[in-house]
Amino acid sequence: MDRPKKKVVLRAVNSMSSLSTIVEENGVKRMRAVNSLTSISELDDNDLLALLVDRPRLKLERKNSYDEKSFSELSLYDSAHSLDGRFGWETPTFSINDSFDPHPMVSKAWEALFRSQVYFRGQPVGTIAAYDHASEEVLNYDQVFVRDFVPSALAFLMNGEPEIVKNFLLKTLQIQGHEKKIDRFKLGDGAMPASFKVLHNPIKKTDSIIADFGESAIGRVAPVDSGFWWIILLRAYTKSTGDLSLAERPECQKGMRLILSLCLSEGFDTFPTLLCADGCSMIDRRMGVYGYPIEIQALFFMALQSAHSMLKQDAEGKELMDKIGKRLNAMSFHMRSYFWLDFQQLNDIYRYKTEEYSHTAVNKFNVIPDSIPDWVFDFMPLQGGYFVGNVSPARMDFRWFALGNCIAILSSLATPEQSMAIMDLIEARWDELVGEMPLKICYPALESHEWRIVTGCDPKNTRWSYHNGGSWPVLLWLLTAASIKTGRPQIARRAIDLAEARLLKDGWPEYYDGKSGRFIGKQARKFQTWSIAGYLVAKMMMEDPTHVGMISMEEEKHMKPVLNRSFSWS
Ligand code: GLC
Repeated sequence: MDRPKKKVVLRAVNSMSSLSTIVEENGVKRMRAVNSLTSISELDDNDLLALLVDRPRLKLERKNSYDEKSFSELSLYDSAHSLDGRFGWETPTFSINDSFDPHPMVSKAWEALFRSQVYFRGQPVGTIAAYDHASEEVLNYDQVFVRDFVPSALAFLMNGEPEIVKNFLLKTLQIQGHEKKIDRFKLGDGAMPASFKVLHNPIKKTDSIIADFGESAIGRVAPVDSGFWWIILLRAYTKSTGDLSLAERPECQKGMRLILSLCLSEGFDTFPTLLCADGCSMIDRRMGVYGYPIEIQALFFMALQSAHSMLKQDAEGKELMDKIGKRLNAMSFHMRSYFWLDFQQLNDIYRYKTEEYSHTAVNKFNVIPDSIPDWVFDFMPLQGGYFVGNVSPARMDFRWFALGNCIAILSSLATPEQSMAIMDLIEARWDELVGEMPLKICYPALESHEWRIVTGCDPKNTRWSYHNGGSWPVLLWLLTAASIKTGRPQIARRAIDLAEARLLKDGWPEYYDGKSGRFIGKQARKFQTWSIAGYLVAKMMMEDPTHVGMISMEEEKHMKPVLNRSFSWS
C-alpha cells in the first residue's frame, strides 16, 4: 500500500516545547501536536524541509471528509432545496472570497485546544472547561462539560480528527447508562451529565470517572441541554465523517430514544414546548430562564430534527419517529407564531385586549400590554425581528437570547424570512448585541429591583456581567454559522475581527463585562476552552462554508410556516 502523502504546511512552537504541525494526509489537512524529540525523526523529508521554513504558511484547502452522499441515505430532512436564492442551507452556494490568511491566533488557539484534551486510559475523551492555572478557585472548571465540548468537537471534526468526538460520544453514553440519584431521588434514564471528570490513580495506574448530573452543580439543576447537544453532536459526527456505523449502533439508538422519551412523554402540557426549571442550560444559574425558554426550545427542536434523521424505523424506533414528526410540526407552528416578535407584532401586542375568553382570543396567553418593558420599544428596529426569551401564561420575556436565536436559524425552526430578520436585527442593533466583543448572551441586563427579584441577588450575575448581559466569545461560532447560513458572512467577518483584536491578548476569557463588552469578566476564567474552540470553528467555517452543514439543517417540507403574523419586511 502506498504510504499516505504527508506534507507539513505550518509549524508553531508552543511553550511546552513541542511542535504543532498541520499535516496533509491524502488531501486532508490535520493539526497534529508533535513531540519535539520523538516525532521529528519520523517525519519525512518534506516535513523537515517545511519545518525549516521560517515564515508559517497556512493555506488550508477545502476538507474532503464531508460526505454528503453517504449521509443523505440517513437523512430524511436534509434534502437540498433552494429557498429564496439568498439562502444556501446545507451547502452554502456563495463564495466568501475571504482569502484565508491565517491569523497568528489560529496556531496559538490550536496549541491551547490540544493542551485542554482529557484522556481516559490513554484515549482522548473530551476537553476541560478551562486550563486556567492562575485562578485560585478551580471549582468544576477542570471537568469536561458536555455543552462546552461541542465547539471543541466541531473544531476537531473540521480538522479531520473525529476520534476524540467518537470517544466522547461513547463515554458519555456509558455515563448515561449508570443509575443516577440525587439524594433519594432517581433521575430519568435518559438524563445526560452536565460534566464529568477523569480521576487518575497514579499508584494503581487506573482511571475512573465521576459525573455530575446536577447534584454538584450550583443550584442543583439537571442540564436539559446536555442530551440535546449529545444528539446534535452525533449528527455532526456522522455528517462530517460519513461514518454511519456509530449512529447505527444499538447503544446510540438507545441513547437517543432515552433522551427523547424524557421530553416526549405525555403530561399536563397544553403547549408543544418543553417546560424547564431555571438554570438548565448554558445559563446555569437563576436568571428567570424557566418555563419555556427559547434557549432550550431551539435546542430541543434541533435535537428532534437530528434524531429524526438518525433513528432507525425498527420496532422500537417507529413509534418514536411518529411522535417526533408530530412534535416538530406542532413546535414550529407554536414557536413561529407565538415567540416571534417584530415591529408589527410588538405594535399588535401593545394594542392587545386582555381577558379574552374562548378559542377566538387574539391575545391567547393573556399578555398584559403594561408588562411590555420600555426598552423593547427602542430596541425593535423597523426591519428585523427575533424569537423572544419565553412565552407562557401572561408572561412574555422580551429579552433577546443569542444561542436560542442562532440555533433557531441553524435548525430551521425559524423560517427563511425570520432567519433574515434575526440577522437584520443583529446588524441594526450591533452596538447593543456585539459592541466590542461578540456576543451578548442576552440583552438587556436585569438591573436594580428586577435583578434582586429575578436572580435572587446573585452577585455573579450583576448587570452586564456573566449570564446577565455579559459577552461570551464562545457564541462567535454560532453567530458565524448563522451568518453563513443566511448568506451574510460579512456579519461574521466583522465579529471575528473584533474577537481577534483582543481574545489572545486577554488570555481567552470566558466572558466580558460591561454594556459593550469592553472589560474582561469579573470572575471570568482565562484559557476557557470553548472561547478558544469557538474562535477556531468560526475561522474554519469562514474558510470552508460547507462545514456549516454539520450543524445546520433544512426546513422539512411538511413544516411550512403558518404566516398568521405580519412580518416587518412585507
Ligand atoms: C459556567 C457556564 C456554563 C458552562 C460552565 C463550564 O457554569 O455558565 O454554561 O458550561 O461554566 O464552562
